[in-house]
Amino acid sequence: MMIPFVGVLLAAGQGKRMKSEMPKVLHEVAGKPIIDHALDAMRRAGATRIIVVVGHAGDALAAHIGDAAEVVWQHEQLGTGHATMQALPALEGFDGPVVVAAGDVPTLRASTLAGLVEKQTSGGYSAAVLTMVLDDPAQYGRIVRSVNGDLKAITEYRDASDEVRAVREVNTSVYSFNCADLRAELPNISNRNDQREYYLTDVIAALVAHGKRVRAVVLNDATEGFGINSREELAQAGKVLRERKSVELMESGVTIVDPSNTYIDMDVEIGPDSIIEPFTVLSGRTVIGSRCHVGPYVCVRDGKMGNDCNIGPFSFIRPGTELADKVKVGDFVEVKNSKVGKGTKIPHLSYVGDADLGSGINIGAGTITCNYDGERKYRTTIEDGAFVGANSNLVAPVTVSRDAYIATGSTITANIPAGALGIARARQENKEGWVERRRQARASKEDN
Ligand code: UD1
Ligand code: CA
Repeated sequence: MMIPFVGVLLAAGQGKRMKSEMPKVLHEVAGKPIIDHALDAMRRAGATRIIVVVGHAGDALAAHIGDAAEVVWQHEQLGTGHATMQALPALEGFDGPVVVAAGDVPTLRASTLAGLVEKQTSGGYSAAVLTMVLDDPAQYGRIVRSVNGDLKAITEYRDASDEVRAVREVNTSVYSFNCADLRAELPNISNRNDQREYYLTDVIAALVAHGKRVRAVVLNDATEGFGINSREELAQAGKVLRERKSVELMESGVTIVDPSNTYIDMDVEIGPDSIIEPFTVLSGRTVIGSRCHVGPYVCVRDGKMGNDCNIGPFSFIRPGTELADKVKVGDFVEVKNSKVGKGTKIPHLSYVGDADLGSGINIGAGTITCNYDGERKYRTTIEDGAFVGANSNLVAPVTVSRDAYIATGSTITANIPAGALGIARARQENKEGWVERRRQARASKEDN
């Protein structure tokens, strides 16, 4: 059972170690910005409202978020406690569970978040902190427990004694609070620490000091708690997310021949009994039907295909493309912003852009839609059953009607009526005896 809660995502920090002009949480991993992973997890875990605290490069972040969440500003980045405080006015009167999480943790599962809220509320705790145990706890905040194992405080690495630094259980920066208790305690924290910041982590010790009950919830899978602070960590998170995605797909009946050499973004959908060959990159909101064979070396971006399609090797399917059932797109073929009807084949070396192709069409090798005149893009229409001879150019806008044929090597600039043959090339002329005449002409030249 999911318990409704309000989510607060902290995303006002600069993320200095990214060395970027972009806000840290707008960097993409496994197909979407870091913050979108966090927003999705919150929503799927049962958040009724989500408030994002923005600050550094906040205009860009607020623009990205749009209507997906509420935005509040932290104009000066005075720490995670101070950032959380900025969300309190929006929570006036609310005394249910509020999940506060750093916006830079894209690998957190929705089920883990929901579990955290459940443990905090059902046990009547003022706060539940999500923790993880790491072999190398690096600079994470350390979880300090009393002798009987109860959570006592979180101490930042910079402020910790050697004894506390030796602790391997750390803070993930994901918490479920009782909102009333959080509101009561936040004003009591100070910035008397190494960074002169107001630490959200200090709320834990403050709650304990006031006799409130707090607990830690340890992650089973520590990869869920990884915060992104650098490009290296961004790549590591991508690996974690892709591995998880591959497992999900395989469990749902998709064959992925070599998951470690296949790149599938989180929001990609693939139907059962499809086979994905190595070195295939499926990104964005790509949708693949059942029983398709994709790859090796295929790139699909925001493309959609039906069932029983056969794509690759070496094809590039770009945004705006919809392939119906049983379509074949073969080697060195690029399809962009085009609809391709049932059973149509584009087997080799073609560019199909801004085109509407019907069903049962054969596109010969080397066919190019000439969709761009340097200023504007135009569409090409090819109706059901047409046959496009190899090495043809279709200069858009142009329509090839039902069952028409295009003679190989044609540059088609005018519409072709149904059932007609369009031929647009110079007629061949054979010059009899030409080779012998040339040979003799050269020989007599050398004699002179
Ligand atoms: C924080 C925790 C640490 C934990 C770690 C997990 C504190 C004091 N420390 O440290 O215990 O182990 O996360 O990743 O909370 N932010 C703001 N405004 C600010 C400062 C930060 O919105 O003034 C946001 C950042 O954008 C970021 C998140 O809060 O998304 C965490 O801040 P960060 O500076 O990365 O904290 P850490 O030092 O990693
Ligand atoms: Ca961090």
